[in-house]
Amino acid sequence: MIKLNCKNADVRVVGEENGLDLELEFNNYKDKIANIISDLNKRKDKNGQWLQWMNLGYNEETLWYVKEYAAMVKGRFDNILVLGIGGSALGGIAVTEALLKPYWNLLSEEQRDGLPRIFFLDNIDPDTMNGLFEVLDLKKTLVNVITKSGSTAETMSQFMIVKDRLEKELGDNYRYNIVATTDKKTGILRQIAEQEGYKTFVVPDDVGGRFSVFSAVGLLPFALVGLDIDEMVNGIKDMDLALKNTDIHNNIAAQNALIHYLMDTKKGKNLSVMMPYSSRLKYVSDWYVQLWAESLGKNKDKEGNDVNIGPTPIKALGATDQHSQIQLYNEGPNDKVINFIRVENFDTQLDIPNIFEYTGIGYLGGKTINQLINAEADSTRVALSDYNRPNVTITLEKIDSYNVAQLLYMLEIQTAITGELYNIDAFNQPGVEQAKNYTYALMGRVGYEESAQTLQAKMATV
Ligand code: PA5
Repeated sequence: MIKLNCKNADVRVVGEENGLDLELEFNNYKDKIANIISDLNKRKDKNGQWLQWMNLGYNEETLWYVKEYAAMVKGRFDNILVLGIGGSALGGIAVTEALLKPYWNLLSEEQRDGLPRIFFLDNIDPDTMNGLFEVLDLKKTLVNVITKSGSTAETMSQFMIVKDRLEKELGDNYRYNIVATTDKKTGILRQIAEQEGYKTFVVPDDVGGRFSVFSAVGLLPFALVGLDIDEMVNGIKDMDLALKNTDIHNNIAAQNALIHYLMDTKKGKNLSVMMPYSSRLKYVSDWYVQLWAESLGKNKDKEGNDVNIGPTPIKALGATDQHSQIQLYNEGPNDKVINFIRVENFDTQLDIPNIFEYTGIGYLGGKTINQLINAEADSTRVALSDYNRPNVTITLEKIDSYNVAQLLYMLEIQTAITGELYNIDAFNQPGVEQAKNYTYALMGRVGYEESAQTLQAKMATV
């Protein structure tokens, strides 16, 4: 199981002004946290609560269908191209970057054991899109278009381009190169998929994009590139069981949720940095940023009062950002909680040869890169603590399907608990919808004419 060490957020380490008396606070919030956890677990099966993601670890049916389809298309495609944005892409990127062999797409077919390369198109830059089309042979590419709403402009415009090209290259058979993941009944993509006869998978009801990584949204691409989705599901189930524990002393998601909440509301630290000491976990930070930002950045509380709250998430990478951001974290405004992720055992070991005797670098010889990265993780958290900067460390025994799934699921539960502490709806995103609607208006979507006029007037003045 993954572990959380939160000692460096305590008054005894970072002082009265910047730290929390954790034992006291855990006791003060014991009942509230217990209520939140049992309430989330009670509400998760009710319609309209947007908590169905808490059940994804138990969805044997999806697991079966995903594995069946992955087995059916195995060996047929050289590439998987995922079209999606936000919650429809970030989990996929985070997990494949963490679990596939590094530089996967650059490996030979033999090195990839015959499994396909994988590309995520999660933006609409014309240059990078055209660049990708030059790299991919679309005939040998399986396109997984993912959008819950079925109408997101970025994803659907990408899809229209790709579908058109596929059809021109493959004729009627183009449809076998497309698999759509979308709502089971509603949305334009669902209609198109049914008309055109695509294979489809479902984004389940009451699962928001940023909580959808363990639905078919993530599981399908993971299975297509040969990742062990059974082990992921085992990791989620074990973590889910652990996080059902209503005692904050034994629930790491509740502990980190409370720390972040109190650091913001009592100590004025409303920035949350995610800093894994592992390049393979780099994109977990991107995923966390979206999860935290869209879930917790809200202007109303559950009673409709204006609150305008939410800790701002920041991504960083150890050791790289020691040479970029750590100066600011140590000596700049003391307004952050830093989350380190530390990996106990890397898959491989890299020895540093003993080839120089210079005092300045000779000490490195005979050590390993593994020792160096973890020494840097430890020294950075100690240095931050010396500067009275609160920080917590999440430790993974290793980077594998089981542990990475646990990490992501733990952070999802932590986000849900934090949302309850703030008394906000962590599962809507009206601020995202607003910008989406403006885009529809600007691009001339029928029904958005009035918004378009208002927008044109506003744009002339701002
Ligand atoms: O988390 C969310 O709900 C959003 O980030 C969505 O995933 C994103 O806007 C894409 O939406 P859709 O899947 O409907 O295309």
